[in-house]
Amino acid sequence: ERHGSTQKEIRMSIETERIVGNLLNSSQGPVTVNDSGVSSVKGAKQSSEVANPVNTSDMDSAKEKLSFELKERQDKMKANNSVKAMQSFREKLPAFKMKVEFLKAVAENQVLVVSGETGCGKTTQLPQFILEEEISCLRGADCNIICTQPRRISALSVASRISSERGENLGETIGYHIRLESKRSAQTQLLFCTTGVLLRQLVQDPNLNHVSHLLVDEIHERGMNEDFLLIILRDLLPRRPDLRLILMSATINADLFSKYFGDAPTIHIPGLTFPVADLFLEDVLEKTRYKIKSEFDNFQWHSRRKRREQDSKKDDLTALFEEVEIDSQYKTYSASTRASLEAWSGSQLDLGLVETTIEYICHNEGDGAILVFLTGWDEISKLHDKIKGNNILGDPSKFLVLPLHGSMPTVNQREIFDRPPPNKRKIVLATNIGESSVTIDDVVYVIDCGKAKETSYDALNKLACLLPSWISKASAHQRRGRAGRVQPGVCYKLYPRIIHDAMLQYQLPEILRTPLQELCLHIKGFKLGTVGSFLAKALQPPDPLAVQNAIELLKTIGALDDMEDLTPLGRHLSTLPVDPNIGKMLLIGAIFQCLNPALTIAAALAHRDPFVLPLNRKEEADAAKRSFAGDSCSDHIALLKAFEGYKDAKRHGRERDFCWENFLSPITLQMMEDMRNQFLDLLSDIGFVDKSKGASAYNHHSHDLEMVCATLCAGLYPNVVQCKRRGKRTALYTKEVGKVDIHPASVNAGIHIFPLPYLVYSEKVKTASIYVRDSTNISEYALLLFGGLLIPSKTGEGIEMLGGYLHFSAAKSVLELIRKLRGELDKLLNNK
Ligand code: CDP
Ligand code: MG
Repeated sequence: ERHGSTQKEIRMSIETERIVGNLLNSSQGPVTVNDSGVSSVKGAKQSSEVANPVNTSDMDSAKEKLSFELKERQDKMKANNSVKAMQSFREKLPAFKMKVEFLKAVAENQVLVVSGETGCGKTTQLPQFILEEEISCLRGADCNIICTQPRRISALSVASRISSERGENLGETIGYHIRLESKRSAQTQLLFCTTGVLLRQLVQDPNLNHVSHLLVDEIHERGMNEDFLLIILRDLLPRRPDLRLILMSATINADLFSKYFGDAPTIHIPGLTFPVADLFLEDVLEKTRYKIKSEFDNFQWHSRRKRREQDSKKDDLTALFEEVEIDSQYKTYSASTRASLEAWSGSQLDLGLVETTIEYICHNEGDGAILVFLTGWDEISKLHDKIKGNNILGDPSKFLVLPLHGSMPTVNQREIFDRPPPNKRKIVLATNIGESSVTIDDVVYVIDCGKAKETSYDALNKLACLLPSWISKASAHQRRGRAGRVQPGVCYKLYPRIIHDAMLQYQLPEILRTPLQELCLHIKGFKLGTVGSFLAKALQPPDPLAVQNAIELLKTIGALDDMEDLTPLGRHLSTLPVDPNIGKMLLIGAIFQCLNPALTIAAALAHRDPFVLPLNRKEEADAAKRSFAGDSCSDHIALLKAFEGYKDAKRHGRERDFCWENFLSPITLQMMEDMRNQFLDLLSDIGFVDKSKGASAYNHHSHDLEMVCATLCAGLYPNVVQCKRRGKRTALYTKEVGKVDIHPASVNAGIHIFPLPYLVYSEKVKTASIYVRDSTNISEYALLLFGGLLIPSKTGEGIEMLGGYLHFSAAKSVLELIRKLRGELDKLLNNK
């Protein structure tokens, strides 16, 4: 076991430290506790002194004393002026009216489901009510509350909010813990963490012995981690009858959860929101019609192609507009209108329409922030650049344009909540993260494109797709509600009413639409029995075929053995909070001294690649990417070189120019840097990197491209394409789906003959044909060492691989050698 018993000891000593520390020095400042639980509380006794068993009655009286002091301190803080001001704000929140009822229900039931409109005070108030109540009733010493959040940013922002509501510094009573970043101390009694962090804690402490109350937030989103956690908790509750579980949900879907927990009682907090006017596409077009016309009339044409594009957009919109308008008089849509709508809705999101709407609001409506829901980072950054670049709204200094995206680094995010300076309009460009977990108070206008990028998983073809699709009615309702926080608002829906009517009531849970390998690995790591029977207990169990695929993949990459038990590799992968393939790339990169490239490529795979595709300068952008790739035949090497170039430029303070010249997104590169650091911390956490040795100790082979490609192969296997020569061309095959093509955006598009016989790729997507996206040309040796199973061919002359076979004159001895090398690798992993 990683850390094993020491971890428990440390936690126990933190407990004791908290008690003793409080008694000794109640005005201690915040301290940080790192991931391994090692705290550095100044003034507290050394853990060795307090780890000795403490006499029970001494412990009891120490607790009594602590509870008393906590109450005294809480009462004293209440008199503080800033706390008083906050208190009157808190008392206006709808949740406050339910305080007594809520606390009574918590006291009387082990499980409670609470639902209420976003912003009513669930996240900030309910955990606080419990904390205050426990302290007031002199139970403070035993009170340890955890509240989980699906996203890092909400854990962080809510913890900081509550600290200021209590007049404290973040990290004292209220703390947070997100992947590789935490601020908490021995005094922390209410901890906000991401669901992932809690899941990892459960490995060490399967009964959550140190927790008195657990609140699971945003369960309506039905994220995979949350669904997974609920299965574990349902099994755990009988073992911990004193643990209180509170499930919090934004929408009225509470029944589902209540049933899952044996008809647990539910409380609904009625909302206090201002009315929000709904405008559907037909109304938006009507309102902005004049604007659209003038935009087209005055447009400076750049090229014939552009002109044709704009013309047809105009025609489409005008035609659609006219049809919808005529039909709407009759309150119904004709067949032809339906057909045009369908054609229209299948196309890309019309950013032009979003721009027009923003422009319309800025010129015609009163003050108030605008919250725009887009589907992904691409659109956010395009629109961001346009507004900043003075292209649509005029003087950019009048606008505060803020992107809001789940994987943004935690810095820069505070300003999203703050009011903008006077004479500046705040425009927040968000993905569905803005729906419920982040509350921006001053939003008066919501622009909803109606779509969200949703992963879906085709279990038959083992294809994962991430495509924009229509959101559910529940999401549309959430988005709309964001406009009525402080005054009556308006929601501009950029889709017709008919689309809204056809939307699903709720979105499909994530567990039903994503590949399950990471989840399966965790189930194994938790020792929760067979994956199939465990997942059958889920709220909505996934397709057995999807489960089987995940198990197969884990066997293929060497994480599970034939008995479906974790291998040494699998054991390490199960502790890493990343996709198992990415985890493997990181481990192999560290072991084979190829760490920097592994970190960079893993960061891009886990997040996104930094290349931008400007519509009008596509050729130049392609050329820039190709020049990074050189003759490597690798998108991954291109990405690596681009990142290295960026770091270099940054050292000279010219990263902006570098990005601009090379068609790279600075924000994505920044995010990749952030992620690389996180990955490095993860590796050091599990003992594969010793930071004190310095970076050079892990990078002896980082400039050897052959080694880099081998590391890549380790991470991407079994995403392998075989390149078969057919005269002057190469035909490309994969094992699962047969013939594939190289994606046009790849540096390998258009290459007729590849120097090496295989390609590894990051993902395949199905559009017109099946394309492999980013790919790298690799040798058979890389595949032999780091790829899957070794099966000697029937003739004994080679090794069967992916339908074809590798020919070796001395196949058997090669095989023997490779087995030995792999055995050494296994030993190494086993010894860690
Ligand atoms: O969880 P729920 O959506 O019910 O509401 P909440 O997050 O507890 O927020 C309640 C109120 O606290 C919001 O309406 C905001 O006015 C305020 N709040 C804030 O000002 N800053 C934050 N970081 C979080 C909440
Ligand atoms: Mg909330």
